[in-house]
Amino acid sequence: MVRVTKMNTILLIALMSLCLSPALSSLAVKCNLPSSLWCNSDDITRQCQVEKHCNAWHKRENTPVDVGVFIEALCSDTIRFITTQLYPTWVQLRDSAVFDIDFVPYGKATETWDGDKWVFECQHGPAECKGNLIQTCAIFHLKDTNTITEYIHCMMSSPNPPEYGEKCAEMLKIDYEPIEKCTNTTLGNMLQHHMAKRTQQAEPPINYIPWITLNGEHNDEIQNRAEADFMGLMCDTISGEKPAACREINDTTIGHHCYKNSRTVQVPVGDSKCNLPPSLWCSSTRVAQRCKVVEQCTSQLSSVAPPVSFSLYYESLCPACREMIQSVLYPTWKKIGSIMNVTLVPYGNAHEHQEGGKWVFSCQHGKAECTGNIIEGCVIHLLARVEKWLPYIHCMEASPSPPDYGAKCAEQLGFAWKPISNCANGTEGNHLMHMAGVATDALVPPHQYVPWVTLNGVHTDEIQKQAETDLLKLICNTYTGPKPAACTDGEIHTRC
Ligand SMILES: *[C@@H]1O[C@H](CO)[C@@H](O)[C@H](O)[C@H]1NC(C)=O
Ligand SMILES: *[C@@H]1O[C@H](CO)[C@@H](O)[C@H](O)[C@H]1NC(C)=O
Ligand SMILES: *[C@@H]1O[C@H](CO)[C@@H](O)[C@H](O)[C@H]1NC(C)=O
Ligand SMILES: *[C@@H]1O[C@H](CO)[C@@H](O)[C@H](O)[C@H]1NC(C)=O
Repeated sequence: MVRVTKMNTILLIALMSLCLSPALSSLAVKCNLPSSLWCNSDDITRQCQVEKHCNAWHKRENTPVDVGVFIEALCSDTIRFITTQLYPTWVQLRDSAVFDIDFVPYGKATETWDGDKWVFECQHGPAECKGNLIQTCAIFHLKDTNTITEYIHCMMSSPNPPEYGEKCAEMLKIDYEPIEKCTNTTLGNMLQHHMAKRTQQAEPPINYIPWITLNGEHNDEIQNRAEADFMGLMCDTISGEKPAACREINDTTIGHHCYKNSRTVQVPVGDSKCNLPPSLWCSSTRVAQRCKVVEQCTSQLSSVAPPVSFSLYYESLCPACREMIQSVLYPTWKKIGSIMNVTLVPYGNAHEHQEGGKWVFSCQHGKAECTGNIIEGCVIHLLARVEKWLPYIHCMEASPSPPDYGAKCAEQLGFAWKPISNCANGTEGNHLMHMAGVATDALVPPHQYVPWVTLNGVHTDEIQKQAETDLLKLICNTYTGPKPAACTDGEIHTRC
């Protein structure tokens, strides 16, 4: 009897889990957050079915990151990358031995065999060929990455790289003789030919310089991140405990949250041969294959892009909510509203009970806050379009006293106050505030404080933190379509 029941239970559980485990094809819908967020919340890890991948990522061996840099001596973009990104990062991280640089000086040169030796022609003329050759010989003779990096940086930051081989050797107390000798002999010629082969055989093929590879991989996203924030990319990619220099990258989150009760801390979880950081897992089909997350990356690799849904649960008088709307949400929406689907839910840490067919509310910051919430709920409902209601909500929340600024903001923005006031004083406003309460109480996980954000319907500590520090970046990273210009402002685009 007991055994049969047990069997039935087991069968039932087996059947249930069959129904519950999402089919792979539905992953695209369920896993619509950027891969940078997959491994820092158990819920998202589970939803995207990347437990094994994240575990492997967290537990991978302490091996230095391998950075490949294909350069040429007179390319201004190469010079800029080495002097403003690569070298400063190297200086900060070299003592921790967390990455290694493999320079390949050749670039967009060509070579022909004249029956005796290789003859090179360089993009920026014979002087560039000379510079490349000195660097190629230096790499052969100096051997350790630190000296090579110092030497190449010295040449590249000089007024004329091909002419600074000897001076830089002097400054760095390097014996120049073997380097110069190498440049005049068959050895140098063969070494340069070897660099040419490496450049020609790179996969995918190199089509501009500098060309950066990360653990052997190259794609646009790797290149763009390397050129814009090489330090951040290294800190993201290195394994094991992060060096102090990585931890010093400051958080500038907004002021104090209005807490409902104490917060719980989420613990990140800790198998594949993927040695690129989660943030790059969907950066190309090649990387997605390498990291075995092709299914999970479907929405990020597809060309149809829905707007990014961003919801803010707040209350009208919580200082951190006001700051969030005023200095984070509104400015971001003004720049990239076209790729955003904004939802505001004014309720926060309020409570409600029913009295004679009406809802009675009590708000964290008193009656005035309830008034503010109801007016804002009516504004959002009646003005219907985000282009109309968001400037209005911003006007109120940026004012000295949101609950008292309903009429003034209506006047300032040219909206009729009467319908809003009627809504706020009547059953409609009462119902809207109740609906905001229902939406707030339905949050999973339940909110612990406000402002409380969700991204494509999901809340995690990391999402909250990124929304508060750099909402523009978070929305741009989450958006899977072609990025609007405001997303790429400040990125460097020219290359040799
Ligand atoms: C290398 O060649 C240059 C020019 O051809 C010459 O000036 C220089 O002395 C040579 N150096 C060595 C070490 O042979
Ligand atoms: C981080 O903040 C501290 C003080 O708040 C400051 O002294 C330090 O320079 C900052 N570091 C960076 C990398 O911005
Ligand atoms: C916008 O967000 C809301 C709330 O999250 C959602 O119900 C709605 O479907 C979204 N609209 C679009 C076009 O994504
Ligand atoms: C609601 O009614 C009161 C008086 O009945 C009035 O003072 C107030 O301005 C009205 N509007 C709002 C938004 O409270």
